[in-house]
Order: sequence, then C-alpha cells, then structure tokens
Amino acid sequence: MTLQTAVVGHPISHSLSPLLHNAIYKHEGVDADMHAYDEEDIAAFTEKMRALPIHLAAVTLPHKQSVMQYVDEIDARASDIGAVNTLLNTDGVLRGYNTDIVGIEAALKGVQVSGKDVLLLGAGGAAYPVAYYLKFKGAHVFYHNRTKEKAEEMRSRFGGVVEDDLSSISPGRFSLIVNATSVGLKLSDPLPIREELITKDTTVLDLIYTETPLLKHTSAKGARAISGLSMFVAQGLEQERLWLDREIRDYGYTALLQDALQKQSI
Ligand code: ATR
Repeated sequence: MTLQTAVVGHPISHSLSPLLHNAIYKHEGVDADMHAYDEEDIAAFTEKMRALPIHLAAVTLPHKQSVMQYVDEIDARASDIGAVNTLLNTDGVLRGYNTDIVGIEAALKGVQVSGKDVLLLGAGGAAYPVAYYLKFKGAHVFYHNRTKEKAEEMRSRFGGVVEDDLSSISPGRFSLIVNATSVGLKLSDPLPIREELITKDTTVLDLIYTETPLLKHTSAKGARAISGLSMFVAQGLEQERLWLDREIRDYGYTALLQDALQKQSI
C-alpha cells in the first residue's frame, strides 16, 4: 500500500515540496506519495494525520509555531528554536522536528558569521531557525521587523539587538543580511531594505527560493547572493532522512526544482 505523506500550509499551491519529495521516493524506491494540504486549521490537520494515517508532514507558513501545541513530543532542538517544520507519525504519536536549521547550515556553508554583524529581516517562523543558527555560530545579530514586538521576542529568546530604524545605518555595516520576510515573493515587491546597505562585500541570503528583487540587486552589485533553494532542498532531504532513517543525497533535485521554477515564471 502506498504510504501517504503531506505538506501542509496556507496558501500551499506554489509549494515545491511534492515535486521534491516524490522525486526522492522514486529515486529511493519508496512506495510513498506526498500531497499538498491547504489547511487554515492546523489542529484539524494533526487529527487527520493520525487518522489516515499520514506518516510524514512538512509544515510550512503560517503553522510552524502554532503546530507545536498540537503534537505529542517535540525534539529538543526544535523546542530551542521555537518552531517545527516537520512532523513524524509513529502509530498515532506525533513528534515535531525542525530541519530548517540543517537547510540554513547548508545554504551558509563557507560564509563566515562568527563575530560578524548580521542583519536578520523578519520575525516569523522562518526567522527563528536563522537566529538560532547565528547565535550558535557566535554572530552579532541585529533584528529588524515591521512589527517591532516580534523582533523584541526574538531578541529575548536568542540575544542580540533590535534595530528598529535602519535609516542611519552606514552602507556595508552588515557582512551578512538574511531576508526572512515574505517581501520578494512577488516580482513587483520592493526591496526589504534600502539598497545602499548592500555593498560588494555583503552576502545576502534570501529564504525565498526564487530570484527575488533583493537577490537580483545583490548580484548586480557583484556581491554574493544565496537563494533559499539550496536551503529548501537540504531541509527536505533531512526530513526524509528522519523518516526513512537513512542518508538521502541530492540526486539532481536542485536542478529539477530550478527547472520547475523557471517554468512557473514563464
Ligand atoms: P514565516 O513563517 O515564513 O516567517 P510569517 O510568520 O507570516 O511567515 O512572517 C512573515 C514575515 O514577513 C514577518 O516578519 C512579517 O512582518 P510582521 O511580523 O510585521 O507581520 C514580514 N512581512 C510580511 N509582509 C511584509 C511587508 N510588506 N513589509 C515588511 N515585512 C513584511
């Protein structure tokens, strides 16, 4: 019998998770199928997950924090991060993990962050594992978010500084800028910061996996631009490693997703 897995979020229509995970199942010879569930009510989804059953669920926006109250157990690292993006179902017992942290590590491989000033934009579920990683690596983190209170919450959890007003910050001040907001999902979106903050020595990681205006601008300055695609693939491979309990490598999945993204944008 084909085993069911899921990606759950709201909205979910543009998710690349089914494409990635179903390609993994095919390559690994696993008889499983991932469906996308567009759910506003994450509590109802967890009940469905137990009942069907759904064996693995990738949890995405806006449920990464709210889902934590509906699972039976939370992995220690996910609990420290304060967000869950993966659920495993063992005979009706749901356990939550965070694999975004593995994705961030992969995306920032070779980027020096220890002792550096890093600007983190956004304070939703996507920003939490970034802050956790940066703290772990010894960066000086500056939080900036439209809703200041949410940036304050992150500061009290992970340490660092809330930078409410970026207008007086000098160009090149931050060696790394991470965009964890949803600004850039639409090609017509503005940059989430003023462009002078990026110089040729700045590295910019955008958690969005398309080529956002921010990434285009960064490349145009001759600076290093990292899209969220490498992060997305790495966190997805880690989800399957957790479920299937074996190492899962990237057998051309990044290229497959790049192709799909290109077709979407035509
Ligand atoms: P995720 O789980 O992916 O982080 P989210 O919780 O909806 O998603 O958070 C999206 C982030 O983008 C938030 O930091 C949000 O700012 P608020 O906390 O003020 O809502 C940010 N964001 C969304 N639209 C924005 C906009 N137009 N300008 C600035 N920030 C924006």
